[in-house]
Amino acid sequence: MQSEIRTKTFFDKIRYSQCWEDPKLLYEGLRITPEDDVLSISSGGCNTLALLLKNPQSVTAIDFNLSQNCLLELKVAALQNLDYADFIAFLGVRPIEHRWELYQNIRVGLSPTARGYWDTQRTMIEQGVLHVGRFENYLRMFRQTILPLVHTHRTIEQLLSLKTLEEQKCFYESIWDNRRWRFLFRVFFGKLMLGRLGRDPEFFKYVQIENVGEHYLQRAKYALTEIPIQGNFYAEHILTGAYSNLEQTHPYLIESNFQKLRENLAKLKIVTGELEKFLDEKPEGSFSKFNLSDIFEWMSQANYEALLRAIMRASRDGARLCYWNNLVLREHPSSLDDRLQSHRELAQQLHFQDRSFVYRNFVVESVHKPSAADALDTISTISVK
Ligand SMILES: C[S@@+](CC[C@H](N)C(=O)[O-])C[C@H]1O[C@@H](n2cnc3c(N)ncnc32)[C@H](O)[C@@H]1O
Repeated sequence: MQSEIRTKTFFDKIRYSQCWEDPKLLYEGLRITPEDDVLSISSGGCNTLALLLKNPQSVTAIDFNLSQNCLLELKVAALQNLDYADFIAFLGVRPIEHRWELYQNIRVGLSPTARGYWDTQRTMIEQGVLHVGRFENYLRMFRQTILPLVHTHRTIEQLLSLKTLEEQKCFYESIWDNRRWRFLFRVFFGKLMLGRLGRDPEFFKYVQIENVGEHYLQRAKYALTEIPIQGNFYAEHILTGAYSNLEQTHPYLIESNFQKLRENLAKLKIVTGELEKFLDEKPEGSFSKFNLSDIFEWMSQANYEALLRAIMRASRDGARLCYWNNLVLREHPSSLDDRLQSHRELAQQLHFQDRSFVYRNFVVESVHKPSAADALDTISTISVK
């Protein structure tokens, strides 16, 4: 199999320098155990690192965009070669003057390819690599040019200080949700602007939602009124560009996880390539857990189904899959009902709590592989008939 999107657009720059997919959903959807071999889409690297914290047997990170893997490698090398305070500052979570000097201590830990990449990216390193993806740049544009036209710094701080959902709902209705907010938000997160400057027009090929801006506006309303703002580091980062409370951020950035993460880095393998081709080359039963990000958005229904079959072949019996639907609904077709079980109730429960809030749906599925005895039963049933 080949990736459809790969032939249609360029993937030479960092698109996501952070994962905008809530790791809590992966933790509860995948239920990692020490026997698990996990396959995880690299993207910004954050969720792959978070999965390592659950002590699986191995994690294989895969991405066809080399620069995403160079970013993951850089995060790994920073974890290995810096102390916690420098690690956090180097990534760009806290201010620091000398990121390029810190990089000189880190680069020895990189592969020649990643070193060659980062050696020429001084500006990105100095900026803090959590802030350099195309999508992060787009969010910064929102924060710096659009948001100040709608709300003052004080109003944003007020929103972030609210303690209950009742307060959030009341605040949203009486103060936040004004005409300017609705208008500018719809335009900025509409298909045209987002496609040209934040994502890519090709990513919308299978999107059937007419008014993408309105759809995201409703998702933002949900986040600001139905999900506790305390602990929602995604909302905080979009609105302020910061993570004020490091104990409530992404698991790989939390100090108490630092040592354990370092110890588990030996279990990580990074692969640059198309998931489609990679799976074709892997022996049957290679993996037991899959973090598939929202990659199925970018392909036709036919390719989605073919990729699901390839995933099932590379799975063990009972393997679990988690993935998000951003704008395009994708859940396994009924023709695979005997091989794939949807855990809809769990997935829905998790989706309601999704702090990253932009996604339309979250999917948890498990693989049922017929055993040799099942297969013999089927054959004998057929021959009796
Ligand atoms: C699908 S994107 C979505 C990002 C996500 N919504 C987020 O905010 O983190 C995640 C990553 O998947 C990679 N990707 C997409 N399709 C892939 C495929 N077929 N094989 C390997 N990597 C793929 C992209 O290069 C990108 O880095």
